[in-house]
Amino acid sequence: MSAVRDGGGTEPPGSTRGASAASGTLEEPQVRAMFDRIAGFYDVMNSVMTAGLHHRWRKRAIDAAAVGPGSRVLDVATGTGDLAIEAARRVGPTGEVVGSDFSEAMLAGARHKDTPIPIAFEWGNALDLPYETGRFDAATVGFGARNLSDLDQGLREMTRVVRPGGRVVVLEITTPTRPPLSTFYEAWFDRLVPLLGRFDEAYTYLPASVKRFPAPHELAARMHGAGLEQIRYVLTAGGIIAIHAGQKPDSETTG
Ligand SMILES: C[S@@+](CC[C@H](N)C(=O)[O-])C[C@H]1O[C@@H](n2cnc3c(N)ncnc32)[C@H](O)[C@@H]1O
Repeated sequence: MSAVRDGGGTEPPGSTRGASAASGTLEEPQVRAMFDRIAGFYDVMNSVMTAGLHHRWRKRAIDAAAVGPGSRVLDVATGTGDLAIEAARRVGPTGEVVGSDFSEAMLAGARHKDTPIPIAFEWGNALDLPYETGRFDAATVGFGARNLSDLDQGLREMTRVVRPGGRVVVLEITTPTRPPLSTFYEAWFDRLVPLLGRFDEAYTYLPASVKRFPAPHELAARMHGAGLEQIRYVLTAGGIIAIHAGQKPDSETTG
């Protein structure tokens, strides 16, 4: 099977042919090195680039995960842990939250934060999660799916580790198609953010990776392909942010 990426071209899943910051595709060691490098200023840049709105989007993503007191949540590619922390607020002291990432520097940032309940911030590769099948009530990924070198494998792994009936949620930046947001977005993402690329190639990679990421309807199809059903998505922030949620079939045999 082959995966069709936005922007044309057919390549095998996980292929990193032509990997470069400018193409928005990097090989796994490059992705890890990039996040290790920018970890110290990741949170500040996040808040500046989203005008602080990312906290609101995270709340909506956790709404879509349909978790509550006592739930067990895995936040994949957790980075500095903000989505895991939002999940922790929801599940409370009787719940459990694990945040997993392959960048030790990003995890170090997460471990320094005040959290409402203790969160296990652990090293793990999203493409080969070190958790047993059906271990969690929900798995989330915030602004991380775009960085996976094999999106389909990442979605399959998230699906595997949730219980039947559990949810998988993807919070991601997407490309707005309608003005005026599309015009503003072009100016911001195609002109301003790449200027930051002079300081670090991460900010050349960021807009390019958003452009090559599947459009919302295609991401929904890819989630379905990973074994999820009842896939719903909402676009918010004028169409810049997409929150997708799918459910693992109840009847599926786990093992
Ligand atoms: C843009 S950051 C998002 C961090 C955080 N989830 C947030 O909402 O701010 C992307 C994260 O994905 C992680 N990542 C990328 N590929 C990964 C993989 N294969 N396994 C684990 N983490 C991965 C990076 O290390 C980085 O911390």
